[in-house]
Amino acid sequence: MTELELNNLLSDMTLEEKIDQLIQLHGGFYGDVEQITGPGYDFNLKPDQQWHIGSILGELGAEHLKTLQDGFMQKQPHHIPAIFMADVIHGCRTIFPVPIAQGASFDPTLVYDMARASAKESAAMGLHATFSPMADLCRDSRWGRCMESTGEDPWLNSRMSEAMVKGYQGDGLDKSDTVAACVKHFAGYGAATAGRDYSGAELCERTLFDDYLLAYEACIKVGVPLVMTAFNTIDRIPCTTNRRLMRDILREKLGFDGVLISDYGAIGETVAHTSSADKCEAAKKAMVAGVDIDMMSDCYMANLEELVRSDELDESLIDEACLRVLKLKNDLGLFENPYKGASPEKEREILYCDEHKNLCIRAARQSCVLLENNGILPLSQDKKIVVVGSLADRRDITGSWAIFAEKDKTVTFADALKERFPDADISVYPYDEPDDEMLGACKNADCVIACLGEDESRTGESKSVVSIDVSSQHYQLFDAVNTVNDNIVCLFYGARPVTLGHFAALGSAILFAWYPGTYGNLGVADILFGRANPCGKLPMSFPHRTGQLPMSYSAFTTGRPVKNSDHYIPFASNYMDCPNEPLYPFGYGLSYSKFEYGKPILSSDTLAFDGKITATVTLTNTSDCDGMAVTQLYIKDVKGSVVRPDRELKGIDKQLIKAGESRDISFDITSDMLRFYDVDMNYTAEKGEFVVYIGDSSKTENSAEFKLA
Ligand code: NOJ
Repeated sequence: MTELELNNLLSDMTLEEKIDQLIQLHGGFYGDVEQITGPGYDFNLKPDQQWHIGSILGELGAEHLKTLQDGFMQKQPHHIPAIFMADVIHGCRTIFPVPIAQGASFDPTLVYDMARASAKESAAMGLHATFSPMADLCRDSRWGRCMESTGEDPWLNSRMSEAMVKGYQGDGLDKSDTVAACVKHFAGYGAATAGRDYSGAELCERTLFDDYLLAYEACIKVGVPLVMTAFNTIDRIPCTTNRRLMRDILREKLGFDGVLISDYGAIGETVAHTSSADKCEAAKKAMVAGVDIDMMSDCYMANLEELVRSDELDESLIDEACLRVLKLKNDLGLFENPYKGASPEKEREILYCDEHKNLCIRAARQSCVLLENNGILPLSQDKKIVVVGSLADRRDITGSWAIFAEKDKTVTFADALKERFPDADISVYPYDEPDDEMLGACKNADCVIACLGEDESRTGESKSVVSIDVSSQHYQLFDAVNTVNDNIVCLFYGARPVTLGHFAALGSAILFAWYPGTYGNLGVADILFGRANPCGKLPMSFPHRTGQLPMSYSAFTTGRPVKNSDHYIPFASNYMDCPNEPLYPFGYGLSYSKFEYGKPILSSDTLAFDGKITATVTLTNTSDCDGMAVTQLYIKDVKGSVVRPDRELKGIDKQLIKAGESRDISFDITSDMLRFYDVDMNYTAEKGEFVVYIGDSSKTENSAEFKLA
């Protein structure tokens, strides 16, 4: 449709019809329900109203969605098709590693590939939009949703989120193999106080702008057409009805002109937040804030018409929102082809295809993080190996957001070992209570692989915890094995940083495998037996203890700094009972190769505001094993008009370095990379001294200095 045709359509619509376009319901209102991702509500719909609304969430399947769309085309008075949206967060049927694992790949191209594959499967299954990426920055692993984030760093989050948007949207929203992305949750959802989901975020404006908004902004720059509001408050105002946040910051400052959708029931929840008297006031506030779609509360449905008729709300606000929804439908090509990519033939061709299977294995190989290795890894197939723990044989390890996963397709770790190493002497005891049989086998083994960690029911939405220790059962399992065999490889599953000190002290190796997806265990087995070389890097710091949270490598020094002290220093900024530093820092992860970095050489020690300098290091693989090196560039602003972080990630270089090979790795540095919100809230770089760090984690001290002049 042309813009004129869209406007004509809008002017032909009644107020009631326009409001209906702003309503999103789940499939429960249509009989068969695929997935319900929030509380169930029973709204007072008018007869046939479900066929007049603008969009549905959580339904999937080419035939099913075509049939639903037929209903809309027949019953909606102007034959306006519905948009089908759902949570395809890290894969549709083929499930890829969870987003926090994708963050660990430090590889935006790989993340793009996974989003592209997810879009192809989703589009074939009839979806038009996915509620992904979640660009929320997350520094507190008590919050179960850090599983869905790519971690603690604004720069890394930005690269990963924009890669996902590009992957989902491919060559254009109207193509048959793409879906629209929806970046969420605007804003600051990841800063939930004390890690408790749905609670408030206490963020000063500078922190919000400098750290939290960057990834959403990156998505807007690459054309994300949907933004979802966050459940939390900011500045003690629920985000969903926060006019300043949505109109002034999201739309005006960040330039977003697409569709703003509420989170599930979030408009209505502003009443419980104590900031709306009732659902009517909530509806009005959300409209004024510019929220176009009400996902699963009956606030818009029950109140907007009356608010307009009684002159409490200007109809132009409804027109504005409705036009944005119609425009999105038009951009998706739904007026020309309401089924878009839905195709049972395509489903048969693409779901679980070899390309997606191999991509999942590759992604798992790239995202597992090797945290400890006393030389026991890689394992030899000639050795006698015993595997213990229930997670060795669990299929529900795809992650709690893999809502369309068919669990019977998951390759368990035990399956993967059988498939990859059929002749090896491996016995599996897939349970968590050690008994004589298990311990007898462990005693006689050359090595025990202990599968530990959290199952998928422990992480995700609303899965907040006050302690990030793994269960006492897994401590007991590990300790029991440890009494009979010292050679323990700890294979951890999970989707948040947990405390690992006990296992690091007593185990021989720790591999953190996250939730690696439908086929990812094949990649995990490859790493353990040396068919693949690990290269994942932590996208969130792993603390020694829960009480250190929230934590980030880029924290501020404070006026009484303490760094790397092995004892408590009175009247300084440190804990009496725990170091300040994490057990494993952001960016950390071992390889079977050994990499050595030469000192950074700068092309000049002075950078002009409109200029560029280049920092180069010589990287050598001193081992006899080819490996992927993940080189990280950090910059520290030595002094600013406001306090500056210890250092900030500004670049990644990931490439294969052959055994014995030396290669120069270079990063360009411009003043743009040095910008922050100064004392007057201008986004700018300030003249002065900077330190460049280049190395293999956020703790590297391999540095050089330059001046911005
Ligand atoms: C609530 C979650 O916060 C959001 O991320 C999700 O997309 C919606 N439910 C829809 O399922």
